[in-house]
Amino acid sequence: MAQGRLNIAFVALTVAIGGFLLGFDATVISGVVPFIRDYFSLTGTAGDLKLGWAVSSLGWGAMAGNAIAGPLSDRFGRRRVLLGTALLFVVSSVLAATATTFTGFVIARIVGGLAVGGAILIAPMYIAEISPAEKRGSLVSLNQLMIVIGISASFFSNYFLLGVGDHNWRWMLGVQTLPAIAYFALLLFVPESPRWLLLKGRDEQALQVLSRVAGTDQAQASLQRIRQSLVAKPVSRGFRGLLDSRMRFIMVIALGLAFFQQITGINAIFYYLPTIFAQAGGGVDDAFRQAVLVGLVNVGMTFVAIWLIDKLGRKPLLAIGVAGMALSLLTISAAFNSATYQVNANTVAAVQKAGVPDSLAMQLRTLDGTSYDSERAYVAAVTGAVGAEQVQSHRQSFISAALTMNAKLVLIAIIGFVASFAISLGPVMWVLLSEIFPNEQRAAAISVAGFFNALVSASVTFIFPWELSTFGSAGTFLIFGLFASAAFLFVLFVVPETKGRTLEELESELMSPARTSANRTDALRSADPVTPSIQ
Ligand code: GLC
Repeated sequence: MAQGRLNIAFVALTVAIGGFLLGFDATVISGVVPFIRDYFSLTGTAGDLKLGWAVSSLGWGAMAGNAIAGPLSDRFGRRRVLLGTALLFVVSSVLAATATTFTGFVIARIVGGLAVGGAILIAPMYIAEISPAEKRGSLVSLNQLMIVIGISASFFSNYFLLGVGDHNWRWMLGVQTLPAIAYFALLLFVPESPRWLLLKGRDEQALQVLSRVAGTDQAQASLQRIRQSLVAKPVSRGFRGLLDSRMRFIMVIALGLAFFQQITGINAIFYYLPTIFAQAGGGVDDAFRQAVLVGLVNVGMTFVAIWLIDKLGRKPLLAIGVAGMALSLLTISAAFNSATYQVNANTVAAVQKAGVPDSLAMQLRTLDGTSYDSERAYVAAVTGAVGAEQVQSHRQSFISAALTMNAKLVLIAIIGFVASFAISLGPVMWVLLSEIFPNEQRAAAISVAGFFNALVSASVTFIFPWELSTFGSAGTFLIFGLFASAAFLFVLFVVPETKGRTLEELESELMSPARTSANRTDALRSADPVTPSIQ
């Protein structure tokens, strides 16, 4: 290994390419769906189920990746696991782009999922473990920046590849191979995490890496500090260590953040953005403009987070952003709540245009001229006119065709929500997860928290359509808004500030006070793991 000074921004950016790949891989499928439906002849109910499989297989793979990445990175090192994910990204994009059978396609996507699940956890953790404390927040946030750039990039790439002919979907999936190969090659220049090296007793190598990051003097001091933290509080490594009572407070913070990042609806809102915009009265044709707008806001505000996170701190960013999320969600709910539903000649035409059979659309005429002041009353009337079965399969079209509301307000509120997420729970959750755990447990704990985060995300997107039809749009966004309000309280009263402190300082501050014999008096005082003194 060359022994020159390391450019830590280069290292962090290199590792964050994993974020780009996973953001790209997770969203590229949306443009591919109509074409694989034809190619693999996925028709009828069985076809729908299979299509569901093709779309969700990456998610299942990612959860498996979440679960194993932590333990593997403890065993083989952070760097090797990252190299492994790069390889899996290459293999999966080649296999998906060349698949000739449905099973082959699903397997390729599961392999991609393993890479996604590994990269999303190990990249931020690695960056935190090698970064100087005063820049750690910004450097770890680079990963989230690359995730959101990857999401937008897949959208543009799909858009531009749409016209390349019969094999367009193969190109959409295949273009990723290039950045994946670049990721692998660049990772070869990145050293192993110094904290992992110390965990493995490879002090000499750890010292070398630390010297390359911060110079010899600083490196000696860091080495001493990390070593001390390892001997000061023997806690079992891996998953067993997480059950240690001293870990309780940290696990509450981690699982709470993982929960609130997803239960407030970011991914449901992303996946259903076109439907939501259509419901809010904007045309479906605007999908391109909307996606560009939302993507720009997401990327732009993540830059703002990177700029502020080590200056303002994690907690103020979280508090401001989560308050903005709550406000935006409640505004969306209120806008839907005050909407009215009117049936006239335009409604009938709009429903026909959206694909409802003519004969059914005509039946809406019996309601001509009527106005309803709630989604529920309107849906009940439509059900009376055209029958429950039809309403079920064309519900969104019926609703958006009759909805009259302040669509601008909804658009502004959705943008407000994405912007608020992008300066708060988006990047800051990953930063906190990469820094609040003790060195010995970090990898196992990040696997648990990451897996939980993915599970909540999958559940929210899974039940979102059901929620919309059961509680209506106003009710659904009210639920998200209430969760965001709870998240605000969680941030204020539970989440600690971690800005500027070394990982080892955080370790001794955050572990529940029952930790060492020297702290036994604290332990007696503290039945409640969430004591203000910890903050
Ligand atoms: C965060 C979330 C992820 C979401 C993304 C959107 O990385 O963890 O679920 O898709 O932000 O910006």
